[in-house]
Amino acid sequence: MKPTRVLGFESSCDETGVALIEVDGDRPPRLVAQALHSQIAMHQAYGGVVPELASRDHVRRVLPLTREVLAQAGLALQDVDLIAYTQGPGLAGALLVGAGVAVSLAAALDVPALPIHHLEGHLLSPFLSADPPEFPFVALLVSGGHTQLMRVDDVGAYEMLGETIDDAAGEAFDKSAKLLGLPYPGGPHLARMAEFGNPEAFALPRPLLHSGKPDFSFAGLKTAVLTQAKKIGLDGSEPCEQAKADLAASTQAAIVEVLVKKSLLALKEAGLKRLVVAGGVGANASLRERLNAACAKRGVRVHYPELQLCTDNGAMIAMAAALRVQRGTAQPRRDGGFEVRPRWELGAA
Ligand code: KG4
Ligand code: ZN
Repeated sequence: MKPTRVLGFESSCDETGVALIEVDGDRPPRLVAQALHSQIAMHQAYGGVVPELASRDHVRRVLPLTREVLAQAGLALQDVDLIAYTQGPGLAGALLVGAGVAVSLAAALDVPALPIHHLEGHLLSPFLSADPPEFPFVALLVSGGHTQLMRVDDVGAYEMLGETIDDAAGEAFDKSAKLLGLPYPGGPHLARMAEFGNPEAFALPRPLLHSGKPDFSFAGLKTAVLTQAKKIGLDGSEPCEQAKADLAASTQAAIVEVLVKKSLLALKEAGLKRLVVAGGVGANASLRERLNAACAKRGVRVHYPELQLCTDNGAMIAMAAALRVQRGTAQPRRDGGFEVRPRWELGAA
C-alpha cells in the first residue's frame, strides 16, 4: 500500500516550520524533509516577540519553506495526502497564517486538514529521535510559555499531573537573562554564561520545592535575581564578568533543581519509570545532565527530542498528525473551515 504523506505547518510564535512525514503501515512514521525559519534575529531588537511582525514574517516564509521541503523530498504538492497545522495555543495572528495556508492548500488539493495542539507536538517530538519512547510515560513539558508534568498513556491520552502557577521555566530563564543584559531569547545565552560561573555563589529561592506536589512557581525567582543583579552593579555600574557568570549559574541551578525534583515526584506519583522531556528548555545541557544522573539512580529511562527539535518546528506537528493517522484517531476536516485557539489547555475539548 502507498504510504500516507503528511505535510505539517507550525506558526504559533516566532518560528515558521514546515515538514513532511510518511506513514507506512505500523512502521514508525518517517521524517522525509523539513525546513525552518527562526525570527529570533528580527525580534531581538525589541527584546521579545512582536506579534504583528511575527505574523507578517510567517506570511513571507511559509510558501518558500513549503517549496523547500517538497524539493528536498523530491515530491510535488499533489503527492500530499493530509495537511496538519498548529491550531493553538500561541499568538492569534501567527496561528491564523499557518492555519489559513494549511486549510487553503488542503482545499485546493482536495485532501483533509488536521488541526494539532502545539504542546502535543512538543510532547510527541521524541518520536522523531533515534530512541523513541514507549507508552506510558511522564512528560516534562518545559517551553517559553508552559511548564507542565503530564501522564501520557497513548497519543491523545494526556493527564495533567502538575503545572506552574505563574511563570514558565523558559520565562524564568528569559527574564533572568534579560536582567543579566543578555539578548532575547535569553535561555541559551544564560546557559552558555553559566558554564563559567559557580552555581552556589548566590542563594536563590527554589519556590514550591517542598510542596509535595508536582507544581511549579518561578515568578519569585526573577525578583530574587533582580535583587542580586542590583547588588553586583548590573543596574548601572559595570559589574565584573565573573559575578555575572556566577549569577547565571546560580539561576540555572535553581531552575534545574526544581525541574528535576518535581519530575521525580511525578514519576513516583504515576508509578512510572519512563520520562520524556520536551520543549525549548529541554535543550538545556545542565538540565539533561542532572536529570540523567537522578533518573539513572532510580532506574528511570529518559528520552529527549533531537536537540534541534526541542524548540518549535514543523516536524513535531507533522509527527503528532502522523501518529494519529496511524492509530485511526485523526479527525481531519474537509469543509475548508478552521479556527485557531490562542489559549488552549492540552486535554481540554
Ligand atoms: O518550545 P519553545 O521553542 O517555544 C515555546 O513554545 O515557548 O521554547 C522556547 C524557550 C525559550 O524560553 C528559550 O529561552 C528556552 O526555550 N530555551 C532554553 C534553551 N534553549 C531554549 N532555555 C535554557 N537553556 C537552553 N539551552
Ligand atoms: Zn513551543
